[in-house]
This record gives sequence, C-alpha cells and structure tokens, in this order.
Amino acid sequence: MELAWQPEYASGLATIDQEHQNILRLFQELLEAIARGDSYMTLASLLSNCVAETEQHFQHEEQLAVTAGHPQCHCHRVAHQSLLRHLYRLLAQMEANPASLSVATVATTAQLVLHHICEVDLPMLRLLTPPEAPRQPQGAALMAENCF
Ligand SMILES: [Fe+2]
Ligand SMILES: [Fe+2]
Repeated sequence: MELAWQPEYASGLATIDQEHQNILRLFQELLEAIARGDSYMTLASLLSNCVAETEQHFQHEEQLAVTAGHPQCHCHRVAHQSLLRHLYRLLAQMEANPASLSVATVATTAQLVLHHICEVDLPMLRLLTPPEAPRQPQGAALMAENCF
C-alpha cells in the first residue's frame, strides 16, 4: 500500500481525513530521515510526533465511534491499543539503541497503521459520513457563467 495520501483513503469526514494525512506524512518524514541518516535528536523528535499525532487521532476517532453508538467501537479501541503498543515499542527501541530504528522496522509499523485506516477506519467512518449535499443544477452554473 502506498504511504503517500491516495484519494481512496478518504472517508468523507474532513477532520479525520486531515488527521490520517498528517499521520502518514509524519511516518513518511521519519522514514526519509532514517534513510538520510539524520541525527538521533531529529529521529527522536519525528518519532515522538508520530506517536503523539496517532494517540490524539485515536482518541478523537474513539470519541466519534462512541458518540455515534457504533457497534464495533470496543473492537476499534482494542485495535488502536495494539497499534499504540507497536509505536511504544519503537520508542523503547530507539531509546535503548538508536541504531535499531531502521527503515524496515518503521515501514512495517506505518503499513500496519495504513492497513488499519483502510480496513477498519474507512468502513466505520463511511457509515458516519453525512450524505452528499445535493448538487446545484448544472443549468444554473452555466447561466451564471454566461453573464460575464
Ligand atoms: Fe483513523
Ligand atoms: Fe481507527
């Protein structure tokens, strides 16, 4: 799966989609920084950002699911906790041995997060997405354009 944002990752909920984009971008930045051989301070800061953004997003999504009374909100929370354990493991690895933070390790976690977005989040979020607003009749737009 492509880590860069793809239109098919969109749920239709703008704030959630923005959060998903931010998380994927942060993982991408971290992967690029590791590949460049950036300093420990830079990598530690990027990894902390990934963790913080993901934690915040998970809380937001869980609130949405509970508020909407989604029947799988408990399972979703359990899935989030499992992903957070992966992220906390990366943080612990980084602290114990900075050289252990490899592109492969981070890419695996990033793919797990992306898989969660596509396979768990999207089916739930699309149920919460309000129906599309009715479109303006095309004739009205054409008439307005013809005035100028
Ligand atoms: Fe999500
Ligand atoms: Fe989620």
